Amino acid sequence: MTLLSVNNLNVSFATPDGAIKAVNGISLSLNAGEALGIVGESGSGKSQLVLGIMGLLAQNGKTSGSVKFNGNELIGMPQQELNKIRGDKISMIFQDPMTSLNPYLRISKQMTEVLMFHKNMSYQSAKNESIKMLDMVKIPDAQNRIDMYPHEFSGGMRQRVMIAMSLLCKPDLLIADEPTTALDVTVQAQIVTLLRELKKDLGTAIVIITHDLGVVAGICDNVMVMYAGRTMEYGPVNHIFYTPQHPYTKGLLRSIPRLTDENYGDLPTIPGNPPSLLNLPKGCPFQERCEHANEKCLQSPPPLLSFGKDLKKACYLEVSL
Ligand SMILES: Nc1ncnc2c1ncn2[C@@H]1O[C@H](COP(=O)(O)OP(=O)(O)O)[C@@H](O)[C@H]1O
Ligand SMILES: [Mg+2]
Repeated sequence: MTLLSVNNLNVSFATPDGAIKAVNGISLSLNAGEALGIVGESGSGKSQLVLGIMGLLAQNGKTSGSVKFNGNELIGMPQQELNKIRGDKISMIFQDPMTSLNPYLRISKQMTEVLMFHKNMSYQSAKNESIKMLDMVKIPDAQNRIDMYPHEFSGGMRQRVMIAMSLLCKPDLLIADEPTTALDVTVQAQIVTLLRELKKDLGTAIVIITHDLGVVAGICDNVMVMYAGRTMEYGPVNHIFYTPQHPYTKGLLRSIPRLTDENYGDLPTIPGNPPSLLNLPKGCPFQERCEHANEKCLQSPPPLLSFGKDLKKACYLEVSL
């Protein structure tokens, strides 16, 4: 069953220099219980895509297109209705837990409030449920630690608290924006295992933005490769890893770290820089950095076309599987 269906979504920001086109015609769909990874260099529009989906863009941002969640259109939905869905049916975790946790309130207070608001629970049953969730994300001695403040937890433990908080209402969809980037490699691996278990045990669908191929391999069914606000390639995780087609995907695979890499800082990067989102080239956005670019690529952006079962790519080069 389709849980999330995004159609031709655009996000642009009004600035004194003109419109910044951060997300350009993205479509994706996610079934219940499935996990989609979104990868791409910094600035490719990954965060704005998920913020656009959630209706959480900055003031100067504007969305067009369609985002259907369980068949209901979220674009243009009144804030009050959206608030009921966010945090209950859809929840989000960010890279830095301190942006979502209030440093001045005990964890117990922050967690119970979520359940009292969304599920009308009494304080006591909300607290019991919260402890259960902290147990589930493997916070040791949750019974006592629930009454601590965020700063009393280590970075990794805080991230677990945030994951527990985001799962409190048993959302159908969890959106995670680089949830492991700020953590050390061992903790990252633990969080990946945890998310995989939660997906299996609770049937939560996941959209996860990450720089890390280990995270993708560990959690995702499908992967979307983004560049300059567009989808370059989209397909099952094994395809992206073993038979990537788009020159950008290939470059990215060489340049992003894997959980097992020790020489993290030493990877080759794709030469050149992404185009300005204020002034996108008229052809393929990757043209300037692509060794295969030809006349056609400079004329018009390659459409995202399907090839094989479940695969899509936006590139004029022939497919070689
Ligand atoms: N409020 C804003 N006003 C103008 N530009 C913005 C705003 N928010 C984000 N952007 C721009 O949108 C682009 C995409 O950003 P983002 O989605 O955060 O990239 P990613 O998450 O892939 O690193 C960037 O060029 C960024 O500067
Ligand atoms: Mg981002």
